[in-house]
Amino acid sequence: MHKYNIALYIFLLSLLCITHGKQFEKSNDFDVLIFTQLWPMTACFIWKENSEKHSCLLPKRDEWTIHGIWPTKYNTKGPEFCNSSLPFNASALAPLQDELKENWIDIQNGSEPYTFWKHEWNKHGTCAVVIKALNNEYKYFQEGLKLHDTYNMINVLAKANVLPGQKYMIETMLTGIQKVLNKKGQIMCVQNKKTGELYVSEIRLCFDKALQLTDCDGIYHFPTNCNKFKEIIYPSNVPSNYHVIQL
Ligand SMILES: *[C@@H]1O[C@H](CO)[C@@H](O)[C@H](O)[C@H]1NC(C)=O
Ligand SMILES: *[C@@H]1O[C@H](CO)[C@@H](O)[C@H](O)[C@H]1NC(C)=O
Ligand SMILES: *[C@@H]1O[C@H](CO)[C@@H](O)[C@H](O)[C@H]1NC(C)=O
Repeated sequence: MHKYNIALYIFLLSLLCITHGKQFEKSNDFDVLIFTQLWPMTACFIWKENSEKHSCLLPKRDEWTIHGIWPTKYNTKGPEFCNSSLPFNASALAPLQDELKENWIDIQNGSEPYTFWKHEWNKHGTCAVVIKALNNEYKYFQEGLKLHDTYNMINVLAKANVLPGQKYMIETMLTGIQKVLNKKGQIMCVQNKKTGELYVSEIRLCFDKALQLTDCDGIYHFPTNCNKFKEIIYPSNVPSNYHVIQL
């Protein structure tokens, strides 16, 4: 009997070690950084679906805006919310504020100032800090602006003759990105519940830990969640009929 107890004890102890090891690994470990840009017209459509009273802040010119830089393990989401000892500090972003307001816009008008940036920092920035180039809040947001400057999807898509106000097969958009950037990205859609129409909502590019553009193969939902057999709308205005399905 005594022997069995010792065996059980050792078994439980090793189980404990394994779970602890995994947890630690989970909080720091990722494969790629996903740089996500959103299409403001579609983001506004999604926001308005929640309430008729909602209004949006939209960019002054036609452009994709930043959603975030997301450390990501292949085939899953996250890691997320890695370190609660790194609280968001609004003052640290003062030098970037004007640029952020233009390019990393909180589409959801009426939110408390900094809501969106604080969310991205807590959820993703605190995981990205293990990379030297992203090891504090200022650097995280500055890198987002830099990537946006280089890879704004309005320009990338235009080079592939993909323009707002038109409809495209998702394959056309995906191969367009690949031809222009020489790397594979990801495109996400949402659907209008009433009409069944699909709108492009986000485009994601992947970067390795040295912040070099890399293929997105292997990330969750790669290469798309859009219907491959229907045309996708790249809307030049905020679609009406606010009945969105998050695919
Ligand atoms: C979280 O951040 C604090 C403050 O920078 C640091 O001392 C600590 O080591 C970090 N924790 C982890 C798990 O990285
Ligand atoms: C917030 O950032 C400002 C500007 O970088 C800095 O002076 C201040 O010490 C920071 N506050 C905290 C609590 O880290
Ligand atoms: C944002 O919301 C405020 C009220 O909360 C409103 O006065 C303002 O017109 C809105 N801005 C836009 C662009 O809709």
